[in-house]
Amino acid sequence: MALVSIVLSLLLAVFVSFLCFPAVVRFLGEQVGHYLRRSSRTRRELLLARVATEAKNHEAERIEVEDYDWEEIASAAIDGRVGNKEDKQWEGIVGFFHPFCNAGGGGERVLWAAIRATQKRWPKAVCVVYTGDHDVDKTAILKRVKDRFNIHLHPPTVHFLYLTTRHWVLASTWPRFTLLGQSLGSLVLAYDAFALLVPDIFVDTMGYAFALALSSLFFPNVPTGAYVHYPTISTDMLDSLQAGGQGINAGAGKGYRGAAKQKYWQLFARTYSRVGSAIDVVMTNSTWTQAHVSSLWGPSRNKRNNTTENDIDVVFPPVAVEEVTQAVEVSLASEKKRGPYILYIAQFRPEKNHQLILEAFAKFLRSDPKLPAYPNEKPQLILIGSVRDSLDEKSVYKLRLLAHELHMKENVEFLCDAPWPQMLEWMGRASVGVNGMWNEHFGIGVVEYQAAGLISVVNNSGGPKLDIVVDVDGKPTGFHATTAEEYAEGFGKALTLSLEETLAMRQRARKSAERFTDRGFAEKWLRNMDKLVKLQVERTRK
Ligand SMILES: *[C@@H]1O[C@H](CO)[C@@H](O)[C@H](O)[C@H]1NC(C)=O
Ligand SMILES: *[C@@H]1O[C@H](CO)[C@@H](O)[C@H](O)[C@H]1NC(C)=O
Ligand SMILES: *[C@@H]1O[C@H](CO)[C@@H](O)[C@H](O)[C@H]1NC(C)=O
Ligand SMILES: *[C@@H]1O[C@H](CO)[C@@H](O)[C@H](O)[C@H]1NC(C)=O
Repeated sequence: MALVSIVLSLLLAVFVSFLCFPAVVRFLGEQVGHYLRRSSRTRRELLLARVATEAKNHEAERIEVEDYDWEEIASAAIDGRVGNKEDKQWEGIVGFFHPFCNAGGGGERVLWAAIRATQKRWPKAVCVVYTGDHDVDKTAILKRVKDRFNIHLHPPTVHFLYLTTRHWVLASTWPRFTLLGQSLGSLVLAYDAFALLVPDIFVDTMGYAFALALSSLFFPNVPTGAYVHYPTISTDMLDSLQAGGQGINAGAGKGYRGAAKQKYWQLFARTYSRVGSAIDVVMTNSTWTQAHVSSLWGPSRNKRNNTTENDIDVVFPPVAVEEVTQAVEVSLASEKKRGPYILYIAQFRPEKNHQLILEAFAKFLRSDPKLPAYPNEKPQLILIGSVRDSLDEKSVYKLRLLAHELHMKENVEFLCDAPWPQMLEWMGRASVGVNGMWNEHFGIGVVEYQAAGLISVVNNSGGPKLDIVVDVDGKPTGFHATTAEEYAEGFGKALTLSLEETLAMRQRARKSAERFTDRGFAEKWLRNMDKLVKLQVERTRK
């Protein structure tokens, strides 16, 4: 514990001195930067030499991986929109700070998709990933990326540098002051990274904003970018601090210790906000995260730039939408295959709110709806979901009972653990997709509805409201609802649209889903990456 205190006090001293003597700290920072540049120069030259050799071998062996259509289209679209031929020639090293790069989760999918897009756009650039995964080599990582995510990276221009200090950012290293400790740890880790190699552009894809701030301090010329999945501290926590330090993490201790803790937190929050103003380009994975990050970083960013504009961009992570669009047709002809069927794909768990959806459907049936588009068919609710244990089984049983009580047994179908082909079939036969969860962070299922051309009826909250079921070309792609009545109304509206309106809405829904494809991600990523490249060129010219 003594060590932790010493380290935290040091950190505090640095922060305070930065607040009081920014010029001095900046000067010292740049000296360290010069030192790091000099000492890693040889490694840089070796790396570039290795890239050249590998590129030659790759060319000679003609190891061509088949490319995907979207990549062709994406690079064509991007060439038209941003930049021109000549800055395709940009050569530099982009450092990706992702100490857990072999984890294989959603965050890693973003990293690999980003590197792939960057490689396509700037074939001469070198992408370097700073990682702490010592147990895997480049071949193994690239193979896993291919198997797990179906992303084919171009081997000669992607390289890995191995950090030795990753334990500094593990939560287990910091049983107390976890957030502060991890932030400090990320400084150590970033120093480790720069000692290995100083990149020309530095990008963090794991949420280590302090690492970016350190980069700006050491290397003011190196543009920095952040892709934020989740804010390190939430706005709620700050609010609770301002309201008197009653937050969960604020340590509502009494007396001397409590006051000290509170000071720590206030300082941390202030520093985190300042850190955000040092980052050149900020992206977030959703509107929700954008709102939180903006409220933390926005004020200091805007003060620095003398603007009120929000320059934090939402770049949605890629979802496998293509599988659905290829299997399900959306056309006039395919309308004949669809019936007045409402599809709900969700695990049978309480928070998915199946019960409310059943009640809403009962209300809809009781309103005795006239559906001219479907003259010979009765409306049906299809519930598809996985059943993991006896608890889930029990809730399915209860839901069946409820359907029975509501006198609509014939109109409700339960499909437990349906295989993917059967789900696809229903996406092609149904007309409406429903989601009952409140404040769902994202909702991949709703994106799949849209890809299949289903008209969505979703809870008026969370990701489905903010990010997914939004207007396309100024017109809706579905309906938002809060109560059972509103859901019933939504079903009614969705099923009584004219044929043209229905088809148009399905097409808009599909277009909306395109934002979540690999291609949609690549386009937005490159637009932001392009800013960083321009800054890099500008700053080194000076
Ligand atoms: C953004 O990242 C957070 C944290 O990993 C995750 O919970 C959320 O679902 C992500 N949002 C999207 C749109 O993928
Ligand atoms: C603010 O300034 C930074 C760095 O000078 C720049 O990268 C960024 O694009 C600017 N933002 C706006 C909104 O002008
Ligand atoms: C900031 O911008 C406003 C107008 O947009 C201008 O009047 C003001 O002088 C600017 N301040 C600084 C410090 O550049
Ligand atoms: C939708 O979310 C609200 C909270 O915004 C919740 O009260 C309501 O029960 C939810 N409705 C359904 C049908 O899930």
